[in-house]
This record gives sequence, structure tokens and C-alpha cells, in this order.
Amino acid sequence: MKNPTQNIVIAIDGHSSCGKSTLAKRLSKKLNYLYVDTGAMYRCITLLMQEQNLQINQSKEIEDLLHNTKIYFKQKDNIQLTFINGREVTEDIRLPKISDFVSEVSTISAVRKRLVEQQRQYLQENNLVMDGRDIGTVVFPAAQLKIFLTASSEIRAKRRYDELQAKGIDIDYNSVLANLIKRDTIDSTRSDSPLKKAGDAIELDNTNMSIDQMVDHVILLLKESKFS
Ligand code: DC
Repeated sequence: MKNPTQNIVIAIDGHSSCGKSTLAKRLSKKLNYLYVDTGAMYRCITLLMQEQNLQINQSKEIEDLLHNTKIYFKQKDNIQLTFINGREVTEDIRLPKISDFVSEVSTISAVRKRLVEQQRQYLQENNLVMDGRDIGTVVFPAAQLKIFLTASSEIRAKRRYDELQAKGIDIDYNSVLANLIKRDTIDSTRSDSPLKKAGDAIELDNTNMSIDQMVDHVILLLKESKFS
């Protein structure tokens, strides 16, 4: 199956906190492609569900919420800001209380259906670097380059822990690790669009790689591929 437009998609999938967004942001800058952080979209729905005290079985209310919610991104001084209906939520959606609930929300098929529709629309007018869990398998199965990132759970938890500490969020390392493991399990075992490596994805373990090494490696893969 070919992509419906001539535009190019680089799909980056992998477990939580394995460096997908870091890689995606760097590639989008180097290549001048649009970066779409699909995890942020699931986090936005989670934030709204928490604020409205919705449970995952409240299908009707969730449908209404999806219908009335516009999620979008804006670039400001090198930072990508996330908005829901005009409200900036960039930091709010990163809080541990959202990370604790987002995987459950991501199992809801109505949520996935709506967000996948929006994710596909980005390709109409842009070359894309998109990261998530199902980009190479479901959202863009015909993506020109698919990367499946991995790293050990401990290094991923350490990276996430350092990020949260730097933001002044007080949390202990073991809770971060426990959250990652729980999310990995839910994300990989859900029935709708579970996290898995696409057959034609290139697996990249960055446990012992610096960010620069990881970016350089993917740029090399791009150069080797015929579309770049
Ligand atoms: O990438 P992240 O940690 O911000 O993603 C948050 C959650 O969203 C993740 O635990 C699973 C879900 N997710 C998903 O199900 N499909 C995607 N394409 C992206 C994220």
C-alpha cells in the first residue's frame, strides 16, 4: 500500500521513554519535516478525562469529549507547545498523574480511532516525523522509514527520572520505573493497536548510545534509503 500523497513519513515507535521524541525532534529540525508527538495527543485526552472525572467505560461521555476537543501544536522559540481548544497544556500533560492513567485511556478504541484520523491528516500537507506506539503498524503502514527504538527499562527510567527532577517534580526512581513497566505491559498487550515492531521497521537499541550517535545513525539510514 502506498501513502496517499507523495509526502514522506518517518515513523518512530517504541516503549515509553526510550528517546523517541528526542530523536524525532532532532530529525524534524535537520530535515525540516513536521514533528507530531502522538503520545501528547493521548495525554491530552487523559487530562480532560481526569478533569471531567470520566471513567474508561463511559463511552457516551467520551464520544462527546472527543467530538468537542481540538488538539494542536504550535512552535515557539524551538519548543513545541501543545494546546487543547486554545488552552496550553504542554507541561500539564507531562505530570505523573497523567502518565499513571494514559495507558488505560489509550486502550479505548474510540479514542484511538479519533486520534489516528487526526494523525493521518497531517500528511496531507507535510513531510512528517511522527512518534508513538502504532505509527509504523497502524497509522502509516506505508511509511518510507520505520524505526523501532529500544533501551533497557533501567536506563529509560533513569532518563525519565532525570527529566522530572530537572522540572522540579519530586518523585522517586522506583515509582518512575514501576510506571514505565506498567505502561509497557498495557501498551504491548492491549487488543487495539498494541505496541509492536512492524515487520519492515529497523530496530535500534540506544541503551549505550548518546543522542548524537542515535541521530547520526538514523540520518545514515535515511541517506542509504532511496527517498531521501
Ligand atoms: O509517548 P508517551 O509516553 O507520551 O505516550 C503516552 C501513552 O500514550 C503511552 O503510554 C501509550 C499511548 N500512546 C499510544 O497508545 N499510541 C501512540 N501512538 C502514542 C502513545
